[in-house]
Amino acid sequence: MAQEIRYFDLNTGAKIPSVGLGTWQAPPGVVGQAVEAAVKIGYRHIDCARAYGNEKEIGDALKKLFDEGVVKREDLFITSKLWCCDHAPEDVPGGLDKTLEELQLDYVDLYLIHWPVKMKKDSVGFVPQNLLPTDIPATWKAMEALYDSGKARAIGVSNFTVKKLGDLLDVARVAPAVNQVELHPSWQQPKLREFCKAKGVHLTGYSPLGSPGTTWLKSEVLQHPVVVSTAEKLGKTPGQVALRWGLQMGHSVLPKSTNPSRIKENLDVFGWSIPDDLFAKFFDMKQERMLKASFAVHETLSQYKTLEELWDGEI
Ligand code: A2P
Repeated sequence: MAQEIRYFDLNTGAKIPSVGLGTWQAPPGVVGQAVEAAVKIGYRHIDCARAYGNEKEIGDALKKLFDEGVVKREDLFITSKLWCCDHAPEDVPGGLDKTLEELQLDYVDLYLIHWPVKMKKDSVGFVPQNLLPTDIPATWKAMEALYDSGKARAIGVSNFTVKKLGDLLDVARVAPAVNQVELHPSWQQPKLREFCKAKGVHLTGYSPLGSPGTTWLKSEVLQHPVVVSTAEKLGKTPGQVALRWGLQMGHSVLPKSTNPSRIKENLDVFGWSIPDDLFAKFFDMKQERMLKASFAVHETLSQYKTLEELWDGEI
């Protein structure tokens, strides 16, 4: 009997549903119906961010779902993220307040520092001229205050390396509950995985399918022979295999889809598993970080002069 893996435990004592709906690049006009479809199908975890520009419509969809009695607030796990423009400690509470207002919620279940990157307040766009040096300990202190207030029931980070997470753990009063990073069979991050496990920080994987719809990213996860042959042997789709692989590796996954049949397909990852002999083959897959985030790197204007520095060599 396959292990279900419906939830993972956080260091706060809360449980994070193992599959969440990703909403990055889910445009307004489409994202609301995707959230509605997902919750009706059984998703209990929605991953949002202020930077995605679609929280207002997600909020309207959530309100409708609550009003219609489809689900109760306490049965959902809602994540959002502090954008780079709001890193200054005095701007952190306002960042969450804007998100809560748009989502029409009193609290989020998890609030993350979206990037270890700071930008000028109210700046738009990823131009190097907007970058400022980070002060993660100061930003984190303000995040801890949000945790104390109850508006964020857990706090964490995103896109943090072993080094950056270690530096934060050294100064944190409230340890981060989650590090949300790129994770899929072609970017498995074994060192970060080991470190997070040792420190009790849960890992969540974004782009768990390798973001096949993102034209500017080179993604071959769903075409990789190991994924495709495993899918064929198990009678599953490559997408389902990539997601189930993540659950069996011990991290939660955030597949994005606005297509109702794929939303359903992506939750059908329980009640079966990838057997050990097939699972072992994934460890031999060629590794490459897909989302390199060169927007944060600049020779003179950024604290990160190179991608090596941004990712502390983990590229
Ligand atoms: P769509 O929204 O039309 O379903 P990721 O979560 O790795 O960023 O990938 C998201 C991309 O993968 C979107 O373009 C989405 O398109 C597509 N997608 C979502 N689910 C599947 C699936 N099961 N198989 C193939 N592509 C998928």
